[in-house]
Amino acid sequence: MIPTKVPSLPVPVVRLVGAGFAYEDGPAVLSGVDFAVAEGRAVALLGRNGGGKTTLLRLLSGGLRCGSGSLLLDGAEVAYDRKGLTRLRTSVQLVVQDPDDQLFAASVGQDVSFGPTNLGLPEEEVRLRVAEALEALDITALADRPTHLLSYGQRKRAAIAGAVAMRPRVLMMDEPTAGLDPHGQERLLDALRRLREAGTTVLMATHDVDLALRWADEAAVLSPAGLRTGPVAELLADDALLDAARLRRPWGTAVARLLRARGLLDAGAPEPRTPEDLDVWLGSAATPLVTE
Ligand SMILES: Nc1ncnc2c1ncn2[C@@H]1O[C@H](COP(=O)(O)OP(=O)(O)O)[C@@H](O)[C@H]1O
Ligand SMILES: [Mg+2]
Repeated sequence: MIPTKVPSLPVPVVRLVGAGFAYEDGPAVLSGVDFAVAEGRAVALLGRNGGGKTTLLRLLSGGLRCGSGSLLLDGAEVAYDRKGLTRLRTSVQLVVQDPDDQLFAASVGQDVSFGPTNLGLPEEEVRLRVAEALEALDITALADRPTHLLSYGQRKRAAIAGAVAMRPRVLMMDEPTAGLDPHGQERLLDALRRLREAGTTVLMATHDVDLALRWADEAAVLSPAGLRTGPVAELLADDALLDAARLRRPWGTAVARLLRARGLLDAGAPEPRTPEDLDVWLGSAATPLVTE
């Protein structure tokens, strides 16, 4: 057979099609939402408080069911029975915002082993996955520690390890950096970097536009007009969208705008997204900033 030359677009891992949702007796939180999470991406889900980020994540992970529209896993509609939901949960894991809503076992190790054990995996495989997840989140030394004696940042990482032990293709996290100090945030980002290098797709709901610009390659922005998706630098430079979603301008976007206004950065040139990027840019800038 002659191979076809038409490259096929990758099928998203999970996808919402025309999804609508309202809580009981409440107004519509989401309506007509189309959202595809493609393999290998780092996606920041942004939007105002109460904009529907958590609801969207719960629809994608099967915790809530769409009132209208549907959820697809690998292109096939998800069945909300035991088998269908188990299939979904082995591909997609959601880490909720408050680790205390997720952690319940006596020790970190026991908590992290809960998911894989529940899948009926052999003991040896469970041990391997737990060790791997603890290592990925840099909490191996905490395996035997009671979860209630951990710091908030450690509890966050333990909760994420529980999801990672399921070896999901898509790891979704609801405001994972909220409540972390700068050091805790950097440790979490290091862990996410390792997971992404291992091939995990990561979707993170956050209000932090600077973090989104620095970390994500794609953004999904919820505003009253609906959900917009696209390259993170492009969406976070869209003033109308930022206003509609009640988001601040990211630091990097503001700096790039100033540099462009002064003719120091070409329209199409990559913009500095962090102070470190700016430092590199200053070192290599062809145009001296101060001319004599
Ligand atoms: N369990 C619930 N019952 C009723 N309404 C809810 C519930 N959870 C959230 N909502 C409402 O749904 C809307 C979207 O909330 P949410 O998805 O939590 O937004 P976000 O995560 O962006 O802050 C809000 O108006 C919120 O008050
Ligand atoms: Mg929320």
